[in-house]
Amino acid sequence: MIRLSGVSRTFSGRSGTVEALSGIDLDVAEGEFVAVLGRSGCGKSTLLRLVAGLLPATTGEVRVSGDRVTKPRRDMAMMFQKPALLPWRTVLDNVLLPVQFFGWKRAEHRDRAHELLAMTGLNGFEKRLPHELSGGMQQRVALCRSLIGNPRVMLMDEPFSALDALTREELSGELQRVHMELNTTIVFVTHSIDEAVLLADRVVVLSPRPGRIREILEIKIPRPRTLGRGAHLEDVARCSAELHELLMA
Ligand SMILES: Nc1ncnc2c1ncn2[C@@H]1O[C@H](COP(=O)(O)OP(=O)(O)O)[C@@H](O)[C@H]1O
Ligand SMILES: [Mg+2]
Repeated sequence: MIRLSGVSRTFSGRSGTVEALSGIDLDVAEGEFVAVLGRSGCGKSTLLRLVAGLLPATTGEVRVSGDRVTKPRRDMAMMFQKPALLPWRTVLDNVLLPVQFFGWKRAEHRDRAHELLAMTGLNGFEKRLPHELSGGMQQRVALCRSLIGNPRVMLMDEPFSALDALTREELSGELQRVHMELNTTIVFVTHSIDEAVLLADRVVVLSPRPGRIREILEIKIPRPRTLGRGAHLEDVARCSAELHELLMA
């Protein structure tokens, strides 16, 4: 589904050049949930922007469904740390924003918007304005907005990192449900070991300066995963410890 071959990215500025990523080879299968884990500054956002077609690679290439990525694609949605909702538009109209933007038929997407809002626990909040919602609810709206076009690929850049731990866990649960129901291919960038273990089929560990793939760890814990009662705590602990060592190395 997604293939990066020999990808590197260098930034040049007045203060010299930064090699943000180097020699990245990565395949993401259709329906797979891949987490990209690394410390701040190791090139996670750069990697995601390369896949999104928001930034060209310095060397190598990115392909999605066999086509070389040169600009953003409609079948890929992106989600960031901040929900970036329009404050004067209702929850429903924020979810429908891409519909308006791309000139799709509103009537055809309204029902889907309501469905997505219900699926993420926002039933009854359709007519509210963003400032009337908590941070977690706002991020749920952003999640619905990124799903409204039925994307085949979701690119997520630390989408839950501004939220408190419990809200983060709740949203992780919802994201797993979305992933299981819709079979969307997800690339999820995070600096949180817990989040990577909770969510991913595979965790790509990046080492810094320049960002390279240090290791790819498969997480075989059954879904849906939680951190509470009934969780596979031993497996979680083992995977977390392994990732911790890889990040500290
Ligand atoms: N537009 C840019 N111009 C110059 N340097 C950049 C730019 N974007 C990222 N970098 C540099 O590339 C490196 C990786 O950045 P980034 O991908 O944002 O890391 P992360 O998301 O893992 O924190 C950093 O050293 C950062 O300063
Ligand atoms: Mg980043």
